[in-house]
Amino acid sequence: MKKYVIVGTGSRGLDSYGRPLVENYKDCAELAAVCDINGKRARYAAGCLGNIPAYTDFDLMLQEQKPDVVIVTCKDCAHEEYTVKALEFGCDVITEKPMTTDEKMCANILEAEKRTGHKVTVTFNMRFMNFCVRLKELMNEGIVGDVLSVHYEWLLDTNHGASYFRRWHSIRACSGSLLIHKSTHHFDLLNWLIDDEPVKVNAFGTRRFYGHTREERGERCLTCPYQKSCEFYLNIETEDRGEMKKMFLDCEDEDGYIRDRCVFSDEIDIEDSVSVNVRYAKGAVMSYSLTAHSPYECMKLVINGAKGRIEADTAFGGEHIRFYNREGECIVYDRTRVKPLPGGHGGADPAPRDNLFRGYTEDPLHQMADTRAGAMSIGIGIAANKSMAEDRAVYLKEFLGDFYPELK
Ligand SMILES: NC(=O)c1ccc[n+]([C@@H]2O[C@H](COP(=O)([O-])OP(=O)(O)OC[C@H]3O[C@@H](n4cnc5c(N)ncnc54)[C@H](O)[C@@H]3O)[C@@H](O)[C@H]2O)c1
Repeated sequence: MKKYVIVGTGSRGLDSYGRPLVENYKDCAELAAVCDINGKRARYAAGCLGNIPAYTDFDLMLQEQKPDVVIVTCKDCAHEEYTVKALEFGCDVITEKPMTTDEKMCANILEAEKRTGHKVTVTFNMRFMNFCVRLKELMNEGIVGDVLSVHYEWLLDTNHGASYFRRWHSIRACSGSLLIHKSTHHFDLLNWLIDDEPVKVNAFGTRRFYGHTREERGERCLTCPYQKSCEFYLNIETEDRGEMKKMFLDCEDEDGYIRDRCVFSDEIDIEDSVSVNVRYAKGAVMSYSLTAHSPYECMKLVINGAKGRIEADTAFGGEHIRFYNREGECIVYDRTRVKPLPGGHGGADPAPRDNLFRGYTEDPLHQMADTRAGAMSIGIGIAANKSMAEDRAVYLKEFLGDFYPELK
């Protein structure tokens, strides 16, 4: 039986790892303790998880609990500190995406993993979504042949998109921007689908929807004079059946984490629209865009290959996959009005948890991701951030070349 601890007792730490561990994996996993920079939130989570010990000092937790595995679910910019410390203590690490947020911390993780011989798994749950699995199977069957080009678009609606602009995600120093925090999912998915690695990146980004684009705004929804008229009003006291109040509002005097901050705040310094071009090692080129203020939620992916073109989208609750071959035919693999599977993220959370906590002997689609996949997906985001800051195209080998000398 392996012993686990969690660092970061926010939504993901508590709901996606803590609760499932104590409810579904008692026979094979012991959740020994949790840790958070916010002691109140750590104690609240510990209470929900059977009154296990709660820490604010990560080193002390390691020394007292001596876990086998550390689960890292704190904010993105702190992943590296705990991942490296855990590896050095002799633990394996399960880290949420993104692996980290900049090239220096990425290098530290890769170096520590190599030096210590312990293992880091990056949990890319999108690889487990039914729709993505179907796409991967078709790609593995060679449906499009050699991949020539990709057109890839992610639309976040103003509920999902705005959720990032209320919190630490909207501060570049905390999340690395949406290009790291959010797009790491998208870049990993594509790298995995086309079985290729990115080489060179060029990017543009703007913020013209969130941030200081409106005068009728307050510091936060709770005290905002525009509650009645603002379409982004969130009631922190009743959201998630009162859990948001207990986890965040009742704990904010410890660290000042305001969970319902105004999406038009001056503090926001990340883009809400980005456009990225990538050249891949095997020759494909990709154009990607992320829109965080769309009227509807959707992923749209087109892969053009030597044998034809696959078009996939998730518009309006459906899962559409169409393949156009060179004989003028269209083969339809659509599933319409798909009911999301239970267990979080349309059913994509339970399967990786089983692999993580029960172990696995086979992984035919390579869904369990390592640090190389973690680095390649944030690598595109890091390069895109550099490209925007320095107004130039950026090669991933500039910052990953020491670890992967074979990068082109
Ligand atoms: N794979 C997915 O689908 C998915 C979904 C949501 C979140 N995530 C990832 O999970 C992580 C947590 O996200 P969340 O939505 O739970 O955020 P959250 O804001 O709800 O929780 C983050 C927690 O980290 C704590 N924290 C912040 N800085 C810390 C530090 N230096 N040391 C210790 N604790 C610290 C905060 O106090 C908070 O409790 C993020 O990395 C996010 O990218 C992944």
